[in-house]
Amino acid sequence: MFLQFIFHICLFIFKLAVLPRDFSENEMSNHQLHFLFQFDRDNALIYMDYNATTPVDPDVVRAVTETLTDAWGNPSSNYLPGLKARDTVYHCRDTVARMVGGKASDIIFTSGGTEANNLVFHTAVEHFGKCMNSSEGNAYIQKLNGRGSLPHIITSNVEHDSIKVTAEYLLKDGKADVTFVPISKVTARVEVEDVIAALRPTTCLVSVMLANNETGIIMPIKDICLRVKEVNKQRSLSTPRILLHTDAAQAIGKIRVNAQDLGVDYITIVGHKFYGPRIGALFVNDPGTKTPVYPLLFGGGQERNFRPGTENTAMIAGLGKAAELVSLNLDAYETHLLDIRCYLEQKLIAVFGEDKVHFNSRFPGSEVLPNTCNVSIMGRGLEGEASYILLNCGIPHDVATNALRISVGRSTSREDVDIVVEDLRETVEQLERIN
Ligand SMILES: Cc1ncc(COP(=O)(O)O)c(C=O)c1O
Repeated sequence: MFLQFIFHICLFIFKLAVLPRDFSENEMSNHQLHFLFQFDRDNALIYMDYNATTPVDPDVVRAVTETLTDAWGNPSSNYLPGLKARDTVYHCRDTVARMVGGKASDIIFTSGGTEANNLVFHTAVEHFGKCMNSSEGNAYIQKLNGRGSLPHIITSNVEHDSIKVTAEYLLKDGKADVTFVPISKVTARVEVEDVIAALRPTTCLVSVMLANNETGIIMPIKDICLRVKEVNKQRSLSTPRILLHTDAAQAIGKIRVNAQDLGVDYITIVGHKFYGPRIGALFVNDPGTKTPVYPLLFGGGQERNFRPGTENTAMIAGLGKAAELVSLNLDAYETHLLDIRCYLEQKLIAVFGEDKVHFNSRFPGSEVLPNTCNVSIMGRGLEGEASYILLNCGIPHDVATNALRISVGRSTSREDVDIVVEDLRETVEQLERIN
């Protein structure tokens, strides 16, 4: 019993003190508690932090291994091993594109989500600069009459660091003006009217995440795109159109993501959030023709020069397989995730009581990812640092300090939930007793 007590305390202290800083890869803004793992009766790991990363699906492991073994050639080589590798890349580009409703030629493979997001911001700034250097652009700048000729970017105040820090860098370095539109404290969403109100004649990019990593709140991307496109239509030919981007890292594999339906120009795709390997891709609606792409890297011409470097064939094969699984099974995944999350929430209420739990993703009119439960268990000694994302959602400080993000996955069972909630109950009880 004593050992169990120590284990629980260690686990909790571990969660409180160490994980938010070192383990969270900025996933929780370095502040919030995660519920990470517990062991089941057979001492198997129960993991409930699927928004941070997912395990790699066994079919994906197989695809990666087979590619490493059989398709190890350089995709640029014109002999058998190279041709096999090229075939793999070709096939996977198509599979990844289908997952988001695009064409194979719309996919640019990247190292991950951070790179894809940076590529979009870099592109928007470069594209604006190029347009402004043209004779029409010069005339346009004169028309602005000293009202600033820096490219202007709109994003939200709850984005992942790979957007937030990139935007802050551009702002600080004088390369762009940025508006971080505050999300509504009523809906925890970026409201379309707020985006429209923030538009300027120099706005070149609107980038809003499809679903938030901490709360799971789904943003109204389709509506934002519809409205911004109306503005684009009214812009004169000399004005660069406003590019539309969504970071779909958290949404893919949990809800349907379709580029045509959303109306975006760019979608960030992150393999390790949907049981794939640590590689990503950027969907671009007809790159280089309808939609600009300015490379961050220069080299040997791969990825049509948008992202040169010898293709990471095995990881691309894994990403392709992970995408195929999503396309085939999304309905089943979504149904299961929702069932388990609802069960988890019921269980938390049953065990802790309505008054002691506060769900931080429940906002009128807003939809949430099926797998994400952000909950505060109120009580003494359970506090951590409050996440800026929750504070920006309007969650009171004393509630935000006690928040725990529990994100379930494809194989999480009701039995896992029972074990985890029971462990949580014991841990909370013990922490309250010693505080
Ligand atoms: C919303 C969001 N965007 C971007 C990223 C960054 O992706 P990556 O870890 O592949 O760089 C993550 C994951 O950490 C994320 O949750």
